[in-house]
Amino acid sequence: MRIVKTIKEMREVSRWYRGEGKVMGLVPTMGALHDGHLSLVRRAKEQNDRTIVSIFVNPEQFGPSEDFNTYPRDTDADLEKLSGLQADVVFMPEAREVYPEGFSTLIEMGGIGQVLCGASRPGHFNGVATVVAKLFNIVIPRRSYFGQKDFQQTVIIQKFVRDLNFDTEVIVCPIVREPDGLAMSSRNAYLNEEERKAAVILHKALQLGEELIHSRRIDDASKVKKEMIALIKKEPLAKLDYIDIVDPHNLDPVKRVIFAAAICLAVNIGKTRLIDNIIVERR
Ligand code: PAF
Repeated sequence: MRIVKTIKEMREVSRWYRGEGKVMGLVPTMGALHDGHLSLVRRAKEQNDRTIVSIFVNPEQFGPSEDFNTYPRDTDADLEKLSGLQADVVFMPEAREVYPEGFSTLIEMGGIGQVLCGASRPGHFNGVATVVAKLFNIVIPRRSYFGQKDFQQTVIIQKFVRDLNFDTEVIVCPIVREPDGLAMSSRNAYLNEEERKAAVILHKALQLGEELIHSRRIDDASKVKKEMIALIKKEPLAKLDYIDIVDPHNLDPVKRVIFAAAICLAVNIGKTRLIDNIIVERR
């Protein structure tokens, strides 16, 4: 497994692979890898000749009062996991390599980046889109892999890929969950024992939403939201940021769940903000 730290070397490796006719899959990450990330790497390995994993905690996607400094970092453990899966290249540039002195160009995602998580994290998705676009330009992957846990992020990436004509197929892989249903996330490491138990409320609320739509045939999104909010309120350590039921293609809110909808939520458990979602389809 080759470790690459500069853009110049990453470009050379990528050019070499392309010259050899090798198809590349890219898995962008911020490290602190868990089984959710590893499922993306496995999928990339299955579908491509070469798998490139990037590890970069992107300062541009963190707000001034957010957890950039404390975001979990464990490079040794990450490299061991990736070498176990036989990733071909790990691209792990320094911040000044990605954002050199004088850098000032950002992708502006507009309205789709300002709803759901974007409402509480202004500028976050512009930062995500910018770094992912940079990675696409540096690696030029045929396919790129993202987890459905960050559902809004996947919609945003698919949109800028379309809008700006990037030539990569965006592949969204299913959420990987702990046995009790909590979606895997690097931020779960922040939770103490009590908070960890309380965090299962996100998945329970989503299961309730799904049950209301599927088994109890409720299609009124406001009724579904109301019952989910009531359930979350019963968990003393949970503070709701938002629940929204949206069109999975453009994130517009839906009033009635007629076809497919995404139920997305963000909940603070103690000081840790967690997100989760589920796609429901009316049967
Ligand atoms: O999902 C993440 O870990 C990040 O947002 C990403 C896509 C690697 C961009 O920094």
